[in-house]
Amino acid sequence: MTGTAEEFRELYGRVPEGVWAAPGRVNLIGEHTDYNDGFALPFALPQRTEVAAAPRTDGIIRLHSANTRAGVVTLDLAALDPAHPPQGADSWAAYPAGVFWALLDAELPVRGADLHVRSDVPTGAGLSSSAALEVATALALADLYGLPLTRPELAALARRAENAYVGVPCGVMDQMASACATEGHALHLDTRSLEQRHIPFDCEAAGLRLLVIDTRVKHALADGAYAQRLASCHRAAEALGVPALRDLPYEDLERALARLGDPVVRRRVRHVVTENERVLRTEELLRAGRLRETGPLLTEGHASLRDDYEVSCPELDLAVATADAAGAHGSRMTGGGFGGSALALIDAAAEPTVRRAVTDAFRRAGHTPPRITSASPSAGATRLA
Ligand code: GLA
Repeated sequence: MTGTAEEFRELYGRVPEGVWAAPGRVNLIGEHTDYNDGFALPFALPQRTEVAAAPRTDGIIRLHSANTRAGVVTLDLAALDPAHPPQGADSWAAYPAGVFWALLDAELPVRGADLHVRSDVPTGAGLSSSAALEVATALALADLYGLPLTRPELAALARRAENAYVGVPCGVMDQMASACATEGHALHLDTRSLEQRHIPFDCEAAGLRLLVIDTRVKHALADGAYAQRLASCHRAAEALGVPALRDLPYEDLERALARLGDPVVRRRVRHVVTENERVLRTEELLRAGRLRETGPLLTEGHASLRDDYEVSCPELDLAVATADAAGAHGSRMTGGGFGGSALALIDAAAEPTVRRAVTDAFRRAGHTPPRITSASPSAGATRLA
C-alpha cells in the first residue's frame, strides 16, 4: 500500500479503491497566452499531489489533506454551491469540491466519496499546486465512477472547477499540463483546440539543467491584476475584430498595434502576439535538438512579461538577471507572475555557480532566501495503485 493509501485507511477505517496522482508544472514558455486561445509549452514537475479515494453511496463527500491542519471537511454533494465554497482553514477543500461540482454540473453521474490528499507541490510558488489537486481529484472520480473522459476533457472540467467554483479566472494551461504531460517531454499546447504535441525535451542528455527559483513571494491569482490583464486582452480582440488575440498573425502585429489608441493596451497585445511566436520558435529549436539556443527566447519572453505585460516583480527580475549574468543560457518568470518562480536553463556544470549567484544577490537585496531546485520534465497524471 502506498503511504497515502495507508493514511487513508487510518483516517477513514477502510481501504481506498485506488490512489491517483497529478503533478505541478513549470511553463517553459507561452505565458498569459492561454486565455487568448494561444500556445504554451509547459512540462510536468516531479512533485505531485496524490489522492486516495473510495466511493460512497450516501451523497456525502469527505475531504482530508495531510498538508493542512484542518480536519476532515464534510460536504453534501447535492448542496455544493459556487456561491458558498469552503472558507477559511477549509478553503483548500474548494478545489476538490469544485471538481465534484463541475462533474455534476456537466451531468456526469458522480456520487459521494472519501478522499485523502497528500502533496509535495509547493503552494503559492506559481507551480500549479491547485491544478495538481484538481486534476488528481478529477482522475480519481473518473475512475471511481467509470466516466469515459479524455485527458483534455478532465483538464477542462478541472479548469471549470477553478473558474466557476473556486472563483479564480485562470486559463487551461496548468490543468492540461498536469493531465497530459509525459516524461522527458514538453507539451506543446494549442489552448483553443486543446490539441497537444509532445516535444522531446531531454535536458540531461544535452548536459543541461532547468533550475526552478522560487522567489517565495506569494502570488495570488485571485487578485485583480490577472483578471484585469484578461479583460484588457478580450477587449483588445474585440476592438480589432478577431475572436481572440491568437488570431493576430505575428507578421501583422505593427498594423494591428497602429489601430489601438491606448499605449497600455498596445503593450499587452504586443506581449501576447510575440509570446505566441516565441512558443513556436522554441518548439522548432527543441525539435531540432538545439536546446541551448532556446535560452535567448526565454530571456526575451521575460523582458516582454516585465515591460509590456507588467506581471513581474523585483524578486523575479533579480533572479532572471542574476542567473543570466552567472551564465544561464536564458531565464524567465514562469506562471502567472507577481511573485512565484523563475526558470533558468543552464549547463549542468554551472549549477553551483548560478545557485550561489542568485542566493547571494537575494541576500544582498535583503530578500527572503529563494528556494532553488532543479526539475526534469516528468509524467502527467496517473493512477498509482
Ligand atoms: C496562471 C494561470 C494559467 C496561465 C498562467 C499565465 O498559471 O493559471 O492559466 O494563464 O497563469 O500564463
